[in-house]
Amino acid sequence: MARILTITLNPALDLTVRLGHLEPGEVNRSPMMLTHAAGKGVNVAQVLADLGHTLTVSGFLGEDNQQAFDALFKRRGFVDAFVRVPGETRSNIKLAEDDGRVTDLNGLGPRVSQQAQQALLDTLERIAPGHDAVVVAGSLPQGVSPQWLHALVLRLKALGLKVILDTSGQALKEALAAGPWLIKPNTEELSDALGCDISSLEAQISAATRLQALGIEHVVISHGADGVNWFSHAEALQALPPKVSVASTVGAGDSLLAGMVHGLLSGHSPEKTLRTATAIAAMAVTQIGFGISDAAHLAQLESGVRVRPLTKE
Ligand SMILES: Nc1ncnc2c1ncn2[C@@H]1O[C@H](COP(=O)(O)OP(=O)(O)OP(=O)(O)O)[C@@H](O)[C@H]1O
Ligand SMILES: [Mg+2]
Repeated sequence: MARILTITLNPALDLTVRLGHLEPGEVNRSPMMLTHAAGKGVNVAQVLADLGHTLTVSGFLGEDNQQAFDALFKRRGFVDAFVRVPGETRSNIKLAEDDGRVTDLNGLGPRVSQQAQQALLDTLERIAPGHDAVVVAGSLPQGVSPQWLHALVLRLKALGLKVILDTSGQALKEALAAGPWLIKPNTEELSDALGCDISSLEAQISAATRLQALGIEHVVISHGADGVNWFSHAEALQALPPKVSVASTVGAGDSLLAGMVHGLLSGHSPEKTLRTATAIAAMAVTQIGFGISDAAHLAQLESGVRVRPLTKE
């Protein structure tokens, strides 16, 4: 099993509020409210831990409301390498109505000072060596520039780690040029970052060729229920997930990413890697949360995934 570091620069407390039907401007009563320590890197860490890996988690955490994070790290046995910053970690509120509609209210999070950014670099310099890979996932907090992210990716590569990147917008655009080892945008995120439409297979093949020239070995493009296309030097594969009933898509992308990292670091075949990752992501959508709760169910989902080579015509 591998030692993996995940970095969440802008984590969030997810507050899920269940509601019969949302009446804006009125007093609404909720039968259930749940708070979870979250953020993409924290989510990926949990799935990787379910798969048996050893995790260190890092990034920036607001010092005024850390309790849910501290409890999670302790419960999961994660090494905590988060830099504390003044203020509160943001909350992302999900208003989940009985008809399946979900309204998201996402906070901004604290502004991260230059000093805190330097403190994180110093921490990583000390703790990153000895890990097999690092996952940098999620959005940037206020005060952190896309150029800083670019420099972070270069530094982590120089420390000898395989860098896995999952972000969007200008941050993705800037960090692509630093040549991470693996990226997992969805179709829309990659179209935005490259400034061109990549909905056709031809466009994806040419985008992947350009990205590989930047040193990106694995380009994994997800398309929700339509599955995932994976381009590497060795091959190009497509996976189609089984039909599942959707409870919540929260954590689907993070689960796919964790599954890919797991297969690649464990030396599984490309076919098995993609099949398992797609099944783990499908499992995430069948649950309100995510993670590997039932090995037999995962095996059943795996057998329902269709994997085929993507041929260049
Ligand atoms: N309805 C679904 N049924 C089965 N699998 C799904 C479904 N939705 C998503 N998935 C799986 O999850 C993967 C990731 O989903 P998606 O492309 O929506 O990621 P994302 O946009 O990065 O999401 P996130 O918001 O989690 O970051 C898909 O490639 C697919 O394998
Ligand atoms: Mg995503």
